[in-house]
Amino acid sequence: MVMNILVKNLLFLYSFVSCFGCNGSSQYTVSILGTGYVGLVTGTCITDMHKNDEVRVYCLDIDSYKIANLKKGIIPIYEPGLSELVQKNIARNMLFFSDDIAETISRSNIIFLAVGTPTASDGSVDTSYFYNALEQVVKNISRNPTTLVLKSTLPIGTGKKVTGYIKQHADPSITLHIVSNPEFLREGTAIKDTMNADRIIIGSNASQDLQDIQQLYSPLIKKNIPILYTDLTTAETIKYASNSFLALKLSYINEIANLCDKTGANIQQVAKGIGLDKRIGFSFLQPGPGFGGSCLPKDTLGLLATAKQWGISLNTVEAAVATNEYQKLMPYRKLKKYIPGKSLCNTTIAILGLSFKANTDDIRYSAAIPLIKKLQEKKAHIQVFDPQAMEHMKRIFPNITYCDTSYKAIENADAVIVLTEWDEFKNLDFSKVKQLMRDAIIIDSRNLLSIATLRTLGFAYNGIGIS
Ligand code: UGA
Repeated sequence: MVMNILVKNLLFLYSFVSCFGCNGSSQYTVSILGTGYVGLVTGTCITDMHKNDEVRVYCLDIDSYKIANLKKGIIPIYEPGLSELVQKNIARNMLFFSDDIAETISRSNIIFLAVGTPTASDGSVDTSYFYNALEQVVKNISRNPTTLVLKSTLPIGTGKKVTGYIKQHADPSITLHIVSNPEFLREGTAIKDTMNADRIIIGSNASQDLQDIQQLYSPLIKKNIPILYTDLTTAETIKYASNSFLALKLSYINEIANLCDKTGANIQQVAKGIGLDKRIGFSFLQPGPGFGGSCLPKDTLGLLATAKQWGISLNTVEAAVATNEYQKLMPYRKLKKYIPGKSLCNTTIAILGLSFKANTDDIRYSAAIPLIKKLQEKKAHIQVFDPQAMEHMKRIFPNITYCDTSYKAIENADAVIVLTEWDEFKNLDFSKVKQLMRDAIIIDSRNLLSIATLRTLGFAYNGIGIS
């Protein structure tokens, strides 16, 4: 057994040295199909972790406008540190962008499929972008061997289907290695999460499929980041099971927070008290207006759809989703304690924060969307501010008032709802806030602010699970 591990490691080291050889030429041409969050961060981080002669990474997209901007270093998302890293690796002559998918694929020996897999109207996963991309790849591969990395979050069982598709459609003279390598980065901390990942999961159905991906990730493996090798289906399941577990944990703490609201217990201390148990841990115990973003909502529904296909009930995940739907309007319910629904007509409500969480401009499944809809129904006047997400929200709600600063949004407001935990909201001058407001009501849906300060200043303050 020990001998086996030793031989495996020696073989790995040998192949690493021989592949990233001393001839100074770039050994890997990597294509990343899809320049969304995952594709862009993955491509940029791969270049950044390697020496100049080791890899060339091509981020590909059918959106020529996006590609033209990326070539100039203009990135389409707000992600701390990403723009600088993209520019650095363009300058290192390692990171490239192209809309010529066929030509770039034909030159690549590692191809990541990182296109979006949104939720379809029936709650299942819409894999149409993925299969279109796969078709393009299979038509154009020409390097032998080529590794195909399934990076998009794909329904459990997709890896097996891809293997079947390739047997039928790919050039049989080319050896294609298929691996599943799910993504665990969080928006807002995506670079750190990639460079210092908690783990790397690599699924494959044959050990010979692993060599190139192991070499590509060797800088991370050398940092002792745990790496778990599984089969394809297991790797796919780990992705869905991880995100669904986070969703369960969050819905649980949100329900306990709602209970604290009734009993008078303090959720912050409850969370600390349970998080001190190492088996539970502190993360994902911060109550709020439910989980949003592109991943947890999508992947919980995706897992439920898969379970349904197999005739299995995932009651816990179903409950987490239902709790989350309820939780999203919790800030509105809290507001109604002070201003009943009927009386909201002609009031001014300020919303601070539109993105689904801080440090991102992403508004997908943000709690701001159902809240604004509800306030519009009640004919309230809505003034909003977000440091990054306002342009996106304008496309959904063009007729609310977008303000340049928090203070502008607060002016003449009857109540303020803090919806996203941006640092700058914590540091507002609340004496000034009070002077600007018509009535001093604050709904703090992230438990972000200092209750003592606000109460001393005479605000009616309402957090989540804190009385
Ligand atoms: C999530 C996972 O955390 C990543 O591991 C995964 O790679 C990613 O999905 C994905 O599948 O691509 P992300 O969607 O960026 O990452 O956001 P999280 O940081 O997980 O937050 C999700 C939601 O939970 C947010 O709405 C956030 O505000 C909320 N949340 C999180 C809380 O309300 N309280 C917490 O304590 C933690």
